Amino acid sequence: MSEKYWSINSPLRMSVFIRNTSFLGNLLDSVMEVVEEMQNQVVSMVVEGIMTGAVVPLPTSVFNDQQVEQAFRFMASGKHIGKVVIKVRDEEAGKKALQPKPRLINAIPRTYMHPEKSYILVGGLGGFGLELTNWLVTRGARYIVLTSRSGVKTGYQGLMIRRWQERGVKVVIDTSDVTTAAGAKKLLENSNKLALVGGIFNLAAVLRDALIEDQTAKDFKTVADPKVTATKYLDQFSRAICTELDYFICFSSVSCGRGNIGQTNYGLANSAMERICEQRQVSGFPGTAIQWGAI
Ligand SMILES: NC(=O)c1ccc[n+]([C@@H]2O[C@H](COP(=O)([O-])OP(=O)(O)OC[C@H]3O[C@@H](n4cnc5c(N)ncnc54)[C@H](OP(=O)(O)O)[C@@H]3O)[C@@H](O)[C@H]2O)c1
Repeated sequence: MSEKYWSINSPLRMSVFIRNTSFLGNLLDSVMEVVEEMQNQVVSMVVEGIMTGAVVPLPTSVFNDQQVEQAFRFMASGKHIGKVVIKVRDEEAGKKALQPKPRLINAIPRTYMHPEKSYILVGGLGGFGLELTNWLVTRGARYIVLTSRSGVKTGYQGLMIRRWQERGVKVVIDTSDVTTAAGAKKLLENSNKLALVGGIFNLAAVLRDALIEDQTAKDFKTVADPKVTATKYLDQFSRAICTELDYFICFSSVSCGRGNIGQTNYGLANSAMERICEQRQVSGFPGTAIQWGAI
């Protein structure tokens, strides 16, 4: 039948039949499912047909490995007949038992979040946390847990949460105290119930900037709690509880790497988080610390 009258998933116009045309539909899969004898007949007909040349491969439109985008656009236009194929390598002259050598192909990596895993952002209601959540959602995350000591306080936080919920994202605000063992464990357990935890991001921070002579032990502890203590517990419990974890990311600062006047406690706390991430990597767990510049 000419392509003029026919295309995939389109109605078949009656005008075709004016030319004395017959249209026979064969539901091959239902034939194959029901009668065994038929199955054998169909298989031998196809085998014979391949040998005699009566059965030929479907028409193919072949693109090379540098034309992946064109191939997808061509397929999306829905006008093709047969298969759209990306040719990665030439056929080998003869059949070889060994696996062919892997080929490297240029590609731009793009990160996607697992739609059936949950992502925990400790301190996620802060400025950076809301931006990161938005990015995670645009990359496919559907379960988000934002932790904070006190919960939603500003209209902007509420607005962002409503927008994500409108997109079908489940957003949970958790106020467990992650600076305690019990609180950190509870956070991970509750998140795992929502959906297996795929990522833990520690963005929590409290600043107590002052020159060293004006610092107190209490200030050091206040700054260290959300970064060092929380990260320590999250590391410890996630190793056992979060079996599907892909990301464990700590938000450190360039003022840790370079030093910044008045931020000795902050630098120390960030540095300790970075060392925990290094230890995680040594043990084969995901762990990354990023020294952000001023945002
Ligand atoms: N912004 C920058 O320029 C910059 C640069 C380098 C690195 N960083 C790092 O990036 C992270 C995020 O920065 P940001 O600018 O978004 O700061 P932010 O707006 O102050 O957010 C930090 C959040 O941490 C939360 N928090 C503090 N203690 C907590 C605790 N015990 N449990 C749970 N949440 C807690 C606070 O929320 P509640 O008060 O509601 O608890 C706060 O919203 C920080 O770790 C920071 O060190 C930021």
